[in-house]
Amino acid sequence: MESTIQTSCTERAKLEFVEALMRYNSTGIGKAMTEHFHTNQSRLPSEKPTIGEIAEIMEPSPSYRFGAFFEFHNHARLFRTLLGTIERQKTAVRDWLDAVNQPGALGSIELDPALSPPTYYRSIDIHTQPGNYHAEFAGVLYHTMIGPFLVHRDDHDEMGWALARGIPRRDYRRIVDLGCGVGKSTLPYCDLYPDAEVLGIDYAAAMLKYGHRLAESRGKRVRFLQRYAEDTRLPDSSVDLVVAVWLFHEIPRKARDATVREALRILRPGGVFAIMESPPFRDLRESYSPLSAFLLDSTGRRMSDPYIPEFFQSDRVEMFERGGFTSVRDVALPNELTGWGSGESYFFGSYPWWMTIGEKRADA
Ligand SMILES: C[S@@+](CC[C@H](N)C(=O)[O-])C[C@H]1O[C@@H](n2cnc3c(N)ncnc32)[C@H](O)[C@@H]1O
Repeated sequence: MESTIQTSCTERAKLEFVEALMRYNSTGIGKAMTEHFHTNQSRLPSEKPTIGEIAEIMEPSPSYRFGAFFEFHNHARLFRTLLGTIERQKTAVRDWLDAVNQPGALGSIELDPALSPPTYYRSIDIHTQPGNYHAEFAGVLYHTMIGPFLVHRDDHDEMGWALARGIPRRDYRRIVDLGCGVGKSTLPYCDLYPDAEVLGIDYAAAMLKYGHRLAESRGKRVRFLQRYAEDTRLPDSSVDLVVAVWLFHEIPRKARDATVREALRILRPGGVFAIMESPPFRDLRESYSPLSAFLLDSTGRRMSDPYIPEFFQSDRVEMFERGGFTSVRDVALPNELTGWGSGESYFFGSYPWWMTIGEKRADA
């Protein structure tokens, strides 16, 4: 069993309704936005337009304006519908989430009730999720909304697999996933490296509890720890591979730099650090999909993801090198969501996932 919530016919109908709206946002309104962009592309001053120049074309268009409004309200409706469903059965959901570390469990979870939410999440609900990652039912909400949100192109953890498969194979004995959430980015390592110890670290108990239950239901052995990515409390030089998927765009620069330093500290000499995100704006604009660069930037501004604009302007290789890593490089990985690498076309324009990977010096 992957989730504990039971839905009535009415709740299912509501969920299907909002899911259809979300699909339409992408395949209907998104298509109209793309047409508007292509029709007006000749007005751009160069073939490599800035985000500001694309915004001048897109922001006045009815398709973009309605799409932005529609996206915001669809998210709100989805969260509201799910929260209503959870509210009706919250004692059962709470009991299910609290049934951790059961006898015979493959993995484990270690919670730290004294760990407070990071200060940079105190006054926002990240990507409009009510109560942020630390609300009591955040894991249930996150795992249920991510399906419709990604038009079901990540139902089999394709994004987590993209990074796991993109990292050069080695004999990693201890693997740590920072900002592991409900474990979608963690579980692939259990399959790829069955002899390794796999750890998932997140600050949010609600995400970890759900992740622990999910991992157990899938027969995967993961050790989940409630810690900050910036301060894992793991011993120096004790890990072979550190990964992070979708963590870096959601935290401010100071926390990103501290996380890179922490990864270096816990890695053994020669150990590998790899993160995965969308490509930086410059690469998106110049090599793949200028419209996607604009949409990513504006999503950050519209959908309560305040660190997106600055993160996607930053140089990740420089961030790793400044943190002490060597042999650092950006690598384009197959992206099933947009069809990059599969030849399938995607109306916004396909683009790869972007892995930044580096090593701790062997003589460190
Ligand atoms: C977008 S989610 C990604 C989850 C997971 N990696 C995945 O790919 O499904 C980001 C996660 O990072 C966690 N997070 C944010 N800031 C953190 C921090 N400072 N330390 C640990 N976890 C953090 C959040 O709680 C959330 O679960």
